[in-house]
Amino acid sequence: MTLARRFTRRELLMRLGIVFNGIAGVIVAVPIVRYLLAPVTRERKVGYDSWIPLGNLEQFPSGETRLATYRNPVVNPWDGDTADIACWVCNVDGQMFQVFAINCAHLGCPVRWFPQSSLFMCPCHGGVYYQDGSRASGPPERGLFEYHYRIESGKLLIKAGEMPTPGQAGNIVRNIRTCV
Ligand code: FES
Repeated sequence: MTLARRFTRRELLMRLGIVFNGIAGVIVAVPIVRYLLAPVTRERKVGYDSWIPLGNLEQFPSGETRLATYRNPVVNPWDGDTADIACWVCNVDGQMFQVFAINCAHLGCPVRWFPQSSLFMCPCHGGVYYQDGSRASGPPERGLFEYHYRIESGKLLIKAGEMPTPGQAGNIVRNIRTCV
């Protein structure tokens, strides 16, 4: 009888242990599984794939680089002015454009365009980029990120919902003429 009771208690504890371990396992596994499946299952916010106008083509004279801003299409109501994002627009030859993210490819500081030297310079750690966005010197390991762009009804549009990343085709080295 005593043995039977010990066995029952052990068995009970074993089952409780299995149940608690199972619950703990599920609690740990859910966020991991959600993370792994996120690329497939996550819903993209409205505006993610939208094309945003930067302005009329006349605002970007041929051969010059100008600052432009757009409103991030993927915003929250509380984002305020932080949703206004700047970028550099280079009208290469009146036909072809390059639109650069303003953020340095090193740690994201905003780069500035210096027409006197035809260079983009980063104030944080001395990163320097040529006028075509390629890396000139300093800590950045690559050139500036580029947006996809298109021209429609005399306006320059960029695909801004998806921020530029190293994987985008627009960042592949191209044989293009540069702005001055
Ligand atoms: S953030 Fe630009 S060089 Fe470091």
